[in-house]
Amino acid sequence: MITIKSLVKTYHTNGRKVQALNGVDLDISTGMFGLLGPNGAGKTTLMRILAGIANLSGGSATVDGHDLSTEQGKHAVKSMLGYLPQELGMYPELTAYQFVDYMAILKGLDEPGERREWVEKAIELVGLTDVAGRKIKSYSGGMKRRVGIAQALVNDPKLLIVDEPTAGLDPEERIRFRNLLVKLAVERTVILSTHIVEDIAQTCRDLAVLVHGSVIFRGSPIELMQAASGHVWTLTTSAMEKPNHDLSVVSMLHLAEGTQYRLVGASAAEYPEAKEVQPGLEDGYVWLMKRTGQTEEVLA
Ligand SMILES: Nc1ncnc2c1ncn2[C@@H]1O[C@H](COP(=O)(O)OP(=O)(O)OP(=O)(O)O)[C@@H](O)[C@H]1O
Ligand SMILES: [Mg+2]
Repeated sequence: MITIKSLVKTYHTNGRKVQALNGVDLDISTGMFGLLGPNGAGKTTLMRILAGIANLSGGSATVDGHDLSTEQGKHAVKSMLGYLPQELGMYPELTAYQFVDYMAILKGLDEPGERREWVEKAIELVGLTDVAGRKIKSYSGGMKRRVGIAQALVNDPKLLIVDEPTAGLDPEERIRFRNLLVKLAVERTVILSTHIVEDIAQTCRDLAVLVHGSVIFRGSPIELMQAASGHVWTLTTSAMEKPNHDLSVVSMLHLAEGTQYRLVGASAAEYPEAKEVQPGLEDGYVWLMKRTGQTEEVLA
């Protein structure tokens, strides 16, 4: 459905050039697709280009055959797309219904009867029908995110692009929100960006990792995980200093007998008492970053 070839994006600000995308190649089909990467990787830039909001500087991108380097193509893509930006300004004094209705007007749904149907359907899809008459300022973070999705769903788009939708949500809201996206992806292509590995693990069968504007991994969460096989250990020690060498500490658990470190790296031979364990997705991500030399920027 989406074909991206050698995609380049360069920003020019204050006489400086920033290469945000560095020759990205990706094919994305239906279902849920995860875009994972650290701050500044180029996730938002890629999504804005796919949404027809930003111009590409080189290469090509098409959505259902519509060429995003032409005005005509961008227009066609916009009409089949729902987009939840990373920072969506909302009007706190409006009710959720009023806000979604307002966004529907901006999308060009001029006929009031038809618009009401779409707005009600979108609000129902995200489970806000009962509270749609309340002002947005009285909503929790998770509810606001759902309003954001509702405005993206007006017009029943075939393609839904959501940029870091789970940022700032508490664990319960995050799970609820993830389940909503999974439900929506049954009938559409959903592209989700995040730097929270766990979001991808639970929802996407297919993902790409973007770093410095380049795709450094493309595959399933299981493949990302399995690549770390033989590179993950736990080590329990009562010694004060944490293990160094070139091992990364993924997590720490304070136990009665000492601190249990979860380590990822090339070798733990230095620590004979370290126990090899099955990798999780986060281990896979950390190992990918380590073996491609991205460690400093990504890991603490
Ligand atoms: N409008 C802009 N003008 C100039 N540089 C920009 C602009 N937008 C993004 N950049 C730069 O492009 C690079 C990629 O930014 P982008 O916002 O796409 O990353 P991201 O992966 O979405 O990051 P985050 O996880 O923080 O949202 C960064 O170096 C950023 O500073
Ligand atoms: Mg971003």
